[in-house]
Amino acid sequence: MKLWGGRFRKEENKLMEDFNSSLHVDQRLYAEDIKGSIAHVNMLMQSGLLTQLEGEEIVKGLISILEDIESGTLPIEGNYEDIHSFVESNLTERIGSTAKKLHTARSRNDQVALDIRLYAKRKALDVINRIEDLKQSLQKKAKENNVIMPGYTHLQRAQVVTFQHHLLAYDQMLRRDKQRIENAIEIMNESPLGCGALAGTTHTINREMTANELGFAKPVDNFLDGVSDRDYLLELMSGFSILMMHLSRLSEELILWSSQEFKFIQIDDAYSTGSSIMPQKKNPDAAELIRGKTGRVYGSLTSLLTTMKGLPLAYNKDMQEDKEPFFTALDTVQSCLAIMSKMIATMKVNHETMKKAVKEGFLNATEVADYLVSKGVAFRDAHSIVGSIVIYCEDHQKAIEELTLEELKQISSIIDEDIYAFIDYPNILNKGIKVGLLR
Ligand code: ARG
Repeated sequence: MKLWGGRFRKEENKLMEDFNSSLHVDQRLYAEDIKGSIAHVNMLMQSGLLTQLEGEEIVKGLISILEDIESGTLPIEGNYEDIHSFVESNLTERIGSTAKKLHTARSRNDQVALDIRLYAKRKALDVINRIEDLKQSLQKKAKENNVIMPGYTHLQRAQVVTFQHHLLAYDQMLRRDKQRIENAIEIMNESPLGCGALAGTTHTINREMTANELGFAKPVDNFLDGVSDRDYLLELMSGFSILMMHLSRLSEELILWSSQEFKFIQIDDAYSTGSSIMPQKKNPDAAELIRGKTGRVYGSLTSLLTTMKGLPLAYNKDMQEDKEPFFTALDTVQSCLAIMSKMIATMKVNHETMKKAVKEGFLNATEVADYLVSKGVAFRDAHSIVGSIVIYCEDHQKAIEELTLEELKQISSIIDEDIYAFIDYPNILNKGIKVGLLR
């Protein structure tokens, strides 16, 4: 059934019909579509645009459709233009001509804008919960592994840190990711229902009532904007993209750390796969897939930004293309967060290899320089003295703290016995904790 057949003299071309249909994509908006319609009908009844009897009949019909979709007895399929046509046609089949009054004082333009807002809001809250889950996994793993590890810059061993501190860096990124999504929810929390096609309606409706029933802070202030705005999807997808960038960086580290070269962690078998030819291999596929799927989320954001950039006000059919990228980005983010959380919770951390890497990496070299500074040497001179110490260590296959005081004094006579405590790794970390940097 077409919602707009009256004005047409010819049937729609079959190819065009398929091209135009978005049912396969927007079918997941069914619950929001029905919920929005029920709020609309309640308002029409209260405003005297529907009788109590008509309104109740429509609401009953809509609830039965919702129940049948959810129980699987009403599959969303068939020759319908979109989910809105599907629901309305089914309603007509069920309750007859009263169904034709449902669309009073409403357009599909404000209807679809409402559906996506409701859906995006509900799913954004789910993403926030998943971020919170991952944060919990990271915090727990961090607490259990408050051990030394090399910190890196340029992927070269740089200074000593703790594994805890390293994991908690991601916890901070996720805290901001969560805030970005919360902020997007707050901004999008206005109801477009009642904007009509683009210019409101001549009927006396009550937009506050529907906004309130549907859990929005208020109705939108401008009709044209209400039906044209997709900023909130872009904003969520920007947030998702930054979040995926963080997950991708963490994935990259897990991949490196689980390699034979690092051996800092072991990813649980449940989140690894094998090679079909090389029997010895265990591949970090979960982490690699998260890193790989990041591209798909960036692509979705770029796709919708591009769709929107040249559109005049108000609704244009181009905007039907908003859903697929948003759903793709959303699904990807949801699954990546869930997998990452499990992968972190189950990974094993190898304290000994990290400790060894710290020792081999001269990660207290900066502290040796700080020691010399504390004895009155200028930092640049200290830097150069430590350079000589490191060369000496390399030549003699020793860590700095393994050199005797005599050997050290040969390079700089200023050095004394107290250097050993100064450059001791636990002591270095304790100083970091005291200034509030490392915990
Ligand atoms: N399927 C359409 C979409 O998602 C619904 C709105 C259609 N409006 C219209 N004027 N043709 O954008």
